[in-house]
Amino acid sequence: MIKIRNIQKSFGDIEVLKNIGLDVEEGEVVSIIGSSGSGKSTFLRCINYLEKADGGSIEIDNSRVGFNRADKKEISFLRNNTAMVFQSFALFNNKTAEENIMEGLRSVKKINKELAKEKAIELLEKVNLKDRSSHYPSQLSGGQQQRVGIARAIAMEPKLLLLDEPTSALDPELVGEVLNLIREIAAENRTMLIVTHEIEFALKISDRIIFMKDGKIEYSGTPTEIMFSKNESLNKFLKTFKERL
Ligand SMILES: Nc1ncnc2c1ncn2[C@@H]1O[C@H](COP(=O)(O)OP(=O)(O)O)[C@@H](O)[C@H]1O
Ligand SMILES: [Mg+2]
Repeated sequence: MIKIRNIQKSFGDIEVLKNIGLDVEEGEVVSIIGSSGSGKSTFLRCINYLEKADGGSIEIDNSRVGFNRADKKEISFLRNNTAMVFQSFALFNNKTAEENIMEGLRSVKKINKELAKEKAIELLEKVNLKDRSSHYPSQLSGGQQQRVGIARAIAMEPKLLLLDEPTSALDPELVGEVLNLIREIAAENRTMLIVTHEIEFALKISDRIIFMKDGKIEYSGTPTEIMFSKNESLNKFLKTFKERL
């Protein structure tokens, strides 16, 4: 069980996260939807400590870390147990697909080179890119780069996998291959938080969906509850999607 409590974050005078709390069960897939600027990315970035929250805590397997007073060891605990997949892939351009996956295993997990390489190859096979292991990001399509990004994140075997709009930067024809891979890994009893604009996809793969508005969780429910909710803001957000059904 992962317990996130009272995350607060301001940038200057603007309060971007207003006391966000969330419990995620082991193996649960939770999607986060909401308008641009509602704080979705900041929420994930605070969990991963890419952004330092002003307050709040996270408990993973009974170890609790307070964000605003985390020491080096606790920050490393967070980095070790959460892994992020970025909208912009964020691969190292001067490293091959295989080296990108090895990087975190070597530097964060302190795994020796031989083992890290073995694991990287295994993961490239899983994401169907074994024949691209020595390619650099510039030699890969966006969809392939994001599959490397996903392989890199799951290589860390995180207790919580974070994905921030993993398909938003992709050309439409490449979205499917990445969504299919995410669907596959979601079915493997992984604990995941996914920020996405792909509503239909979120409804299909999520155990629970959270709707964020103005730095708060405005509504949270199962996919069915989300679709039939009477919440006005949520319905306004889903209007275009529902009209297309
Ligand atoms: N590094 C930053 N400095 C200042 N403001 C930021 C920063 N990152 C995000 N914000 C602001 O915080 C708010 C929430 O942003 P974000 O978390 O990216 O929202 P979302 O991912 O839901 O689109 C926005 O108003 C955004 O402009
Ligand atoms: Mg965002």
